[in-house]
Amino acid sequence: MTPAVSVRGLRKEYPGHVAVGGVDLDIGTGEVFALLGPNGAGKTTTVEIMEGHRKATAGEVRVLGEDPAGAGAGWRARIGIVLQTATDAAQLTVAESVRHFALFYPNPRDPEEVIEQVGLTDKARSRIKALSGGQRRRLDVALGIIGRPELLFLDEPTTGFDPEARRQFWALIRNLSETGTTILLTTHYLDEVEALAGRVAVLANGQILAEGTPAGLGGGARNEAIVRWRDENGRHEEKTPFPTKLVTQLSNGRELADLTVTRPTLEDIYLELIR
Ligand SMILES: Nc1ncnc2c1ncn2[C@@H]1O[C@H](COP(=O)(O)OP(=O)(O)OP(=O)(O)O)[C@@H](O)[C@H]1O
Ligand SMILES: [Mg+2]
Repeated sequence: MTPAVSVRGLRKEYPGHVAVGGVDLDIGTGEVFALLGPNGAGKTTTVEIMEGHRKATAGEVRVLGEDPAGAGAGWRARIGIVLQTATDAAQLTVAESVRHFALFYPNPRDPEEVIEQVGLTDKARSRIKALSGGQRRRLDVALGIIGRPELLFLDEPTTGFDPEARRQFWALIRNLSETGTTILLTTHYLDEVEALAGRVAVLANGQILAEGTPAGLGGGARNEAIVRWRDENGRHEEKTPFPTKLVTQLSNGRELADLTVTRPTLEDIYLELIR
């Protein structure tokens, strides 16, 4: 099977600054792959090179079998893009802009259905400039999927979404994934990664620090429990793979104040990785 995305030794240098410093990445057809990383890590740079919107300094990039830097309209019709910075066609209405974008593709989805899927039916006749930030973002998502893409790039798609909109969006992504769409998503929300992604890579300073399933990220560290308690000397915290044993030793029959035993969350693992 040909991977949907294959990247080898990707580098992107800006004057005096290395934004991406040698990245290897493979995304299989049908996967939902998440790219995590702090502000300035190089996520947007990497994704926009895959989309053909920026030129790499070095390295090899194949997206749906082609080099995005030289790919034509046929290739472009097979991918969908939601950029980090919102679109600007403020005078059009929601319905007009979705219908307009549909014209660019050979086999588009039904505009009304897509508007419904992103929860904008009530706003279909509103001008884009009259939308709230989250509603605009929903429109970006609508425009990203209208062309029935095989591969969908989503750069922080849910930034500004209210909790309900985020859940709606997750359902939409699962639905797209079930019908075979390959998805590359960047996000700062770790619950989103856990909810959606089959695989995740952590990028920091232009380098991939770790890669795996959301549950497997961090390896053995994921199995270490964090035991917290309080005594006359203050608050304490200890990491251990054997929390029951530790608590037994500590308490020695008496009550421990404010005792909690927790497993590290994906967020804990992530913060540890990028530290
Ligand atoms: N056009 C540009 N010219 C010069 N430097 C740039 C340019 N675009 C990005 N950079 C730099 O490259 C680095 C990576 O930026 P990038 O936008 O890829 O980060 P990111 O991971 O998407 O961050 P965020 O989470 O904030 O969106 C940053 O240090 C940024 O300042
Ligand atoms: Mg970005």
